[in-house]
Amino acid sequence: MKVARLTLSDRASAGVYADRSGPEIERVLTEGGFPVTEWIRIVMPDERAELEALLLRLVDTQQADLILTTGGTGPAPRDVTPEATRTVLERELPGFGEIMRVQSFARVPTAILSRATAGTRGKSLILNLPGNPKAIGECLPMLLPAIREALKHLNGE
Ligand code: MTE
Repeated sequence: MKVARLTLSDRASAGVYADRSGPEIERVLTEGGFPVTEWIRIVMPDERAELEALLLRLVDTQQADLILTTGGTGPAPRDVTPEATRTVLERELPGFGEIMRVQSFARVPTAILSRATAGTRGKSLILNLPGNPKAIGECLPMLLPAIREALKHLNGE
């Protein structure tokens, strides 16, 4: 399985601080037993056009099975991840974002500020996660069964 993890952060991409969210995605998938054969690791600024072009390349050319983004899902002016994601999606799977917000809200009231979404393009699944590394650990593990199932369906199994 080819998996891309994309960290959207102006500051991490400029080297102001280290990216901890991307490695956290990798940890959760590895511990969850995902059969990842190739990781594509990217840290980039919150630029909508750049993200759209990258998502298209990852799906249409590189044929990544799973693309996980972290960051840029909030209400700040530079947060553009959900918009870029929706542009490339053929079909939206709104349940991923909905359940992250609902489940996290009980513990973290600001979880409601994330506009994260998910969906499919071709045989690829694209999923947004909030940018806080702690949020990855709070959200991604509970989504693993649905991610596995979605990938099976996309491959006609
Ligand atoms: N969800 C969880 N589980 N834990 C968190 O700490 N942070 C919230 C929210 N979702 C958070 C969370 C906050 S403060 C914001 S602003 C939004 O995610 C968007 O974050 P992002 O712009 O870094 O993606």
